[in-house]
Amino acid sequence: MALIAVVGSINMDLVVTADRLPNKGETITGKDLQYLPGGKGANQAVAAAKLGADVQMFGCVGDDDLGKRLLENLADAGVETTHIRTVPGVTSGTALITVGSGDNTIVVIPGANAYVDREYIDSIKDELLRADIIMLQHEIPQETNEYVAELGEKHGKIVILDPGPARPISEALLSRVSYLTPNEHEAAVIFGTEKDPEELLKGYPGKLIISQGDKGVSLCTADGELLHFPAADVEVVDTTGAGDTMSGALGFMLARGSSLVEAVRFANYAAAFSVERYGAQTGMPAYDEVLSRFPELRN
Ligand code: RIB
Repeated sequence: MALIAVVGSINMDLVVTADRLPNKGETITGKDLQYLPGGKGANQAVAAAKLGADVQMFGCVGDDDLGKRLLENLADAGVETTHIRTVPGVTSGTALITVGSGDNTIVVIPGANAYVDREYIDSIKDELLRADIIMLQHEIPQETNEYVAELGEKHGKIVILDPGPARPISEALLSRVSYLTPNEHEAAVIFGTEKDPEELLKGYPGKLIISQGDKGVSLCTADGELLHFPAADVEVVDTTGAGDTMSGALGFMLARGSSLVEAVRFANYAAAFSVERYGAQTGMPAYDEVLSRFPELRN
């Protein structure tokens, strides 16, 4: 099994559940508040590790109680944490999440994630380059993503960029990543809304994978074939971390040598599994759990 490195954010999610999401300017009564480990980077690392991948996490936490809990949580999930930096005098990343009516809103406060900079990458470079697959997201400084993607390309690594939260990306970064996995909203921010979705996918064969929530996921293979995998029919409890589960599962499948098409098909089911449970990481499945829940995957 190839080694995966995740370079990205580590957050504590402060999750409020309510019957529905509040409207702008509205106050509603919530049901409860939970502190749950999250962060797009950490979520992807946990998703891949729970499925059975060999994963090393690179990132920063603060020297606070949340930071200790976040490191413990990653280690408990089987993620290698040796090179995560604890930044003195800084708070750990946090995310304020409201979950209601099967949907969510998220506000992220970067905290220590803002310290995942070039200097940090240089300090862990040798370790990072032991990995075969490098996974990136948009919750660390973009110049760090640019730098890591450049290193990854130079050293022949598979680089997967999940561009959430949405922000534009440079042509250089786009050309350096092996796979880009936006949702529809992120794709619109990166590529604009003028292009027909199929034309867009055809413009990046074997590279662009667009997830469309309850509609499923689409890609164009390297041979130019457009493929769409519909979402599985599931009871949605909480969609937080579904995209991260998909990315982690994609990394896991590529690490075990699957083709891109097999990897995307499996990742789509793994993400569906995760939304049936509450919390970003709590709903992430083991490999056998995905196969038992969706026996059609064995065909
Ligand atoms: O993708 C879900 C994640 O986004 C949450 O865990 C939260 O921390 C934010 O980073």
